[in-house]
Amino acid sequence: MGIWPLTAQPAHSVGGVRLAEIAEHFGTPAYVLDEEHVRARCREYSKVMAPHEVAYASKAFWCRAMARWVAEEDLSLDVCSDGQLVVASAAKFPADRILLHGNGKTQQELSVALDYGVGRIVVDSAGEAGQLAALAALAGRRQKVLVRVTPGVDAHVHPAVTTGTEDQKFGLSIASGEAAHVARRILRESSLELAGAHCHIGSQISSLDGFETAARRMVAFMAGLGGLPELNLGGGHAVPYRPGDPGLDIAAFAERIAGAVGQECAAHGIAVPRLTVEPGRAIVASAGVTLYRVLTVKRGARTFVVVDGGMSDNPRPALYGSRYHVERVGSPAADHTESMIVVGRHCEAGDVLIPDARLPRDVGPGDLLAVPATGAYHHAMASNYNHFTRPPVIAVRDGRARPLIRRETDEDMLRRDVG
Ligand code: LLP
Repeated sequence: MGIWPLTAQPAHSVGGVRLAEIAEHFGTPAYVLDEEHVRARCREYSKVMAPHEVAYASKAFWCRAMARWVAEEDLSLDVCSDGQLVVASAAKFPADRILLHGNGKTQQELSVALDYGVGRIVVDSAGEAGQLAALAALAGRRQKVLVRVTPGVDAHVHPAVTTGTEDQKFGLSIASGEAAHVARRILRESSLELAGAHCHIGSQISSLDGFETAARRMVAFMAGLGGLPELNLGGGHAVPYRPGDPGLDIAAFAERIAGAVGQECAAHGIAVPRLTVEPGRAIVASAGVTLYRVLTVKRGARTFVVVDGGMSDNPRPALYGSRYHVERVGSPAADHTESMIVVGRHCEAGDVLIPDARLPRDVGPGDLLAVPATGAYHHAMASNYNHFTRPPVIAVRDGRARPLIRRETDEDMLRRDVG
């Protein structure tokens, strides 16, 4: 998998639509999303993981159109908030294919999930197990649940996305016995059905070793409970952001994990569970390209290229030190380039998008820049910082462009300002 969308002519067009035309028509900054790419990734995952389950992690990018694409491609769905459920419900996403996550679910969230008939709820604490059992009993339902387990695996990724170790907030520890304790409690509740166990060891993981260790530990944990029908190994599959970055090989993942799970199950004498994976980034990241217009170029100790967006449309460099590739639209990558620093227009020195860009020497005001691999956790994490309005998401397919999410307006901002 590359860093550009499947249908892209890099830095020129996506989905048969010229990037310059999208910028002219919809303005900048703008997120461009390749529908064909998203659908192709869904199909590839289904094929490689079959007969196991693939649930799209909607926190990566979510809107009604995306919900329809994911539903049409027959994937299941991971949501982690009642807000994401609102969108799923608005798009009529089949409730029985939804999994609800969260380390701190509100009573309202659990009730909304029960009302909507969400297929599985992933329980993250003893308190939540009790609360959900009571709510399900009240609703006259027997709710399927998974226990979120901490397998004690360090995936060696950024601390903000490290979620398999003992010293972070998610899950119930295998090592301390808490996971087994909560699982047994669920088994005693008549309004709950323990369908399986879940773990998610982190994000942007390109090595298979951590996934394999986690899978083996999860099977041993499930064997301690006499075996369970489902093993959900979460997401976290890496994608490249810059040329040459490693991505996770999903065929190798499927083979190695299914092999390890089969072996462990045989060793423990339990039936092989159905596996679920929850890719978010790996479905949508490289389907997206962000377009910026250059406002000015300042030459001094360094060359600063100031664009019309920044940390409010992409907080990932500031949050995780994430690195990106950038190209000028309409100029081949091989043009005479120079090292430059692409910065945003927010009132903060940390508003750096790309500290080590290589752009043509004559880059100047009005030029259009394209940043690939920006389909996941970009619109989803965009903010109004400095009262900039959030960019639109424009879907492209077969030579047509259409907005999925329109640009936020000044009126949108003032509407919430009710004081
Ligand atoms: N399943 C669970 C339970 C998760 O917590 C997550 C991500 C996923 C699946 C999907 O992970 P993915 O395949 O997309 O890596 N804002 C950060 C990413 C936070 C991910 C949190 N959980 C970023 O921009 O890198």
